[in-house]
Amino acid sequence: MKTYARLPLTLVRGKGCYVFDDNGNKYLDFVAGIAVNTLGHGHPAMVKALHEQTQQMLHCSNLYHIPQQVELATKLAALSGLDQAFFCNSGAEANEAAIKLARKFFYDADSNRRTVITATNSFHGRLLSTLTATGQDKVKVGFDPLPAGFIHVPLNDLHALTHAIDANTAAVLLEPLQGEGGVNLATAEYLQGVRKLCDEHGILLMLDEVQTGIGRTGTMFACEHASIQPDIITLAKGLGGGMPIGVMLASEKVASSFSPGTHGSTFGGNPLSCTAALTVLKTIETEALLDNVKTRSQQLQQGLTDLINRFDCLVALRGQGLLLGLLCSCEVAPIINLCRQHGLLVLPAGTHVLRMLPALNISEAEVSEALMQLEKSLNEFST
Ligand SMILES: Cc1ncc(COP(=O)(O)O)c(C=O)c1O
Repeated sequence: MKTYARLPLTLVRGKGCYVFDDNGNKYLDFVAGIAVNTLGHGHPAMVKALHEQTQQMLHCSNLYHIPQQVELATKLAALSGLDQAFFCNSGAEANEAAIKLARKFFYDADSNRRTVITATNSFHGRLLSTLTATGQDKVKVGFDPLPAGFIHVPLNDLHALTHAIDANTAAVLLEPLQGEGGVNLATAEYLQGVRKLCDEHGILLMLDEVQTGIGRTGTMFACEHASIQPDIITLAKGLGGGMPIGVMLASEKVASSFSPGTHGSTFGGNPLSCTAALTVLKTIETEALLDNVKTRSQQLQQGLTDLINRFDCLVALRGQGLLLGLLCSCEVAPIINLCRQHGLLVLPAGTHVLRMLPALNISEAEVSEALMQLEKSLNEFST
C-alpha cells in the first residue's frame, strides 16, 4: 500500500557503514535504517551469531522458556536498573505494552489513574494507542474514534506538566530526545523535575527510548545524561541491530501487574531476534562503542558547526551523541536529495531538520567523508 513516499533508490547490499544500490552505486549510510543498524551492515559478529542460531532454532513460542530471552532480559535489567522485561517486535508495541501496564498497575491498586501525559511533537508509534499518545496531529487525521486517556503538554515546561497532572493521571511518557519530532532534547533539569513530580504524585515515569536507547546518545540509555531512574523504559530499533525486536523494561513493583493472559506476543523475544540483540550488546562492550559515539559525535558536531557558520540556510545544531539534527531555515528535502546524489544518505526530522544517525561504529574517516559530501551538497544548493 502507498504508506511510504519512497525515494528513487533500491538498496540491495550493505557493508559496514556503506550501502549499495541495484546499479552498484555506493552510499555512506547516515540513516542506518532510522537508528536500527547499530553495528552497520554485515558485522562479522552478527553474521556469525545469526548463522549459528538459524541452525539451532528460529522460533518456538513464548509457551516455553527461551534461554536467549532470559539472558537478554537479565542483561537489559542490569544495564537499565529495572527488573523485568516484556518482549515484542517494534517500538509501537513496546509503548502499547507500557501504556497497558501503567493502566493495569493502577487498576490493581483500586485507583482511577488511567491518563497518560506525553509531550507536544513526540512520536510514539502508529498503533491506535501510540498514535493517540503521539503529540502531532498530522498522524491522527482520519483515524477517529481514538482511545481516550491521553494529554499533551509542551516539552521542557515543568509548569505545564504540573498543571496537567490530576487525580486521573497514571503516567508521564517522554522521549529524552525527540527523534521524529525534530531532534528536540528534553533538558536534564526538566527530566529531573519530571521524576520529582511523578514521585510526589505517585505516578509512573515511562521513557520511550526506542530511538535513543542502546548507545545512540553516547550512554546506553539517554536518561543516564540526566541521572534519573524511570519506572519503565521502552526500546526497539537499535536493540536488534536490524532484526525486529522491541522490549518494555519495568520495575518489579509495576511489572507484577502483568500476569498470564494480560498481555502477549507470538513473535516477541524469539531466539533469533534475542540472539541479534545479545550480539549488539556484546559488541557495544567489546568494541567500546559508547566511547566511539562520544568521539565521533564531537567530530561531527565540530564539522556541522563549521558548516552552520558558512551557510546561511543552516540555523542551529541539535541532538546528542549520534542522533544529531541540523535546523535549516528552508525545507530540507532538496538538500537531502543532493546529499544522496553525492553519495550520502541522511533523513529529515519534520520539514526543517536534517537528521544524521550513523551506525555506532562509524569511523573518523567516514565522518570526514560525510561532512565533505554534505558541504558539496550545500554548495550546490546555495548556488
Ligand atoms: C521514539 C519512538 N517511539 C516509537 C517509535 C515507533 O517504533 P516502530 O516503528 O518500531 O513501531 C519510533 C519510530 O520512529 C520512535 O522514534
